[in-house]
Amino acid sequence: MLAGKKILLAVCGSIAAYKTAFFVRLLKKEGAEVKVIMTESAKDFITPLTLATLSKNPVYSEYFDENSGEWHNHVELGMWADLMLIAPLSANTLGKMANGICDNLLLATYLSAKCPVMVAPAMDLDMYQHPTTQENLKKLQSFGNEVIEARDGELASGLSGQGRMAEPEELLEILKKKLTNSEALKGKKVLITSGPTFEAIDPVRFIGNHSSGKMGTAIANAFKNTGADVVVVSGPADHFPHTSEVIKVQSAEEMLKETEKRHHEADVVVFSAAVSDYRPKDPAKEKIKKNDDSLQLELIKNPDIAATLGEKKKHQYHVGFALETNNESVNAREKLKKKNFDLIVLNSLNDSGAGFQKDTNKVTFFDKDNNEQKFELKSKVEVAQDIVDYVIKKHS
Ligand code: PMT
Repeated sequence: MLAGKKILLAVCGSIAAYKTAFFVRLLKKEGAEVKVIMTESAKDFITPLTLATLSKNPVYSEYFDENSGEWHNHVELGMWADLMLIAPLSANTLGKMANGICDNLLLATYLSAKCPVMVAPAMDLDMYQHPTTQENLKKLQSFGNEVIEARDGELASGLSGQGRMAEPEELLEILKKKLTNSEALKGKKVLITSGPTFEAIDPVRFIGNHSSGKMGTAIANAFKNTGADVVVVSGPADHFPHTSEVIKVQSAEEMLKETEKRHHEADVVVFSAAVSDYRPKDPAKEKIKKNDDSLQLELIKNPDIAATLGEKKKHQYHVGFALETNNESVNAREKLKKKNFDLIVLNSLNDSGAGFQKDTNKVTFFDKDNNEQKFELKSKVEVAQDIVDYVIKKHS
């Protein structure tokens, strides 16, 4: 299954490093080529000789081999790999990765790697739960890296909780899926709308909404990992994908213009933006003064981007969202039909942990063939992966 695949395994200083010996053996048995990078502290937990013997390749940890005089080129290592897995990932290396620090070969290789990067953290439970660790993991996800969450169980400290690195067998299955998916939409073009729109009232104020861009960013990252070319048309959000081309807009009209321009060449279009349905008819040229006790604004309808492009749809696979507060399933099904979506993803503001700004979402899929699939509350990264898996299954 992994025959000919090139795996770059980067090992940090954590007791879980001992598991990498088993993991390298499993990879080799599957026919993968394996190269290993170690940090200095990783060598306190497992010897380079063990990993060199099992991987049948020299282990890299310095830029320069003092004995042979050989220069270990981090750029070449990153280019060589089909996938880089940092396992175990320590809190120390995580912090450096999240902040662009580059004081060893592992970090230089990470920064220059063009291939998908996955990380499998391992640390004590309190370290794992610390807000800094969680923020840093989110930051890696926003760079498009995939986080294999630490597992629950007994830890080396004797404590019990979340912090164990995923077991080698599990890592192997995750890698296999990842590598199968990594080319699933190669050559396809994916267009995504994301974030809110801001509709000007005057040069200072606007009508907007709470969309942060987290859902759209997670979707862009997940599609990028399938080898697709991804373009995101985003309103003024807090989150943008670092992996994809981003076209920044303000209003619904601008979002329509930029999305329409690219629609004909797209294979998959995901409408995750929260678009304002109305806009002020005549935005004031100057800041409106507060002279009166009340202020009337006349609002006119904005174009419906999804419906407009739904009418022009030919080969494209359209995924819409429905953000509801009541009568959820009925409304979602109606939107699926009215806007000519192939799939609609319902999220309801009645579900705690779902909707705007959260890191999690709870969704139900409805497709045009009347299939319905409910999911439990998950991270937006996992929801995005579910959407991508569905599109791959239905579209390719
Ligand atoms: O950005 P986050 O903070 O992570 O929040 C994510 C989200 C809640 C914004 C996202 O999950 C979501 O639900 N996006 C759609 C929000 C919305 O506007 O839903 P709607 O039910 O009003 O619209 C239905 C569909 O038509 C959506 O695909 C929407 O993008 C699209 N639409 C709506 C109006 C309009 N004028 N043009 C559109 O394209």
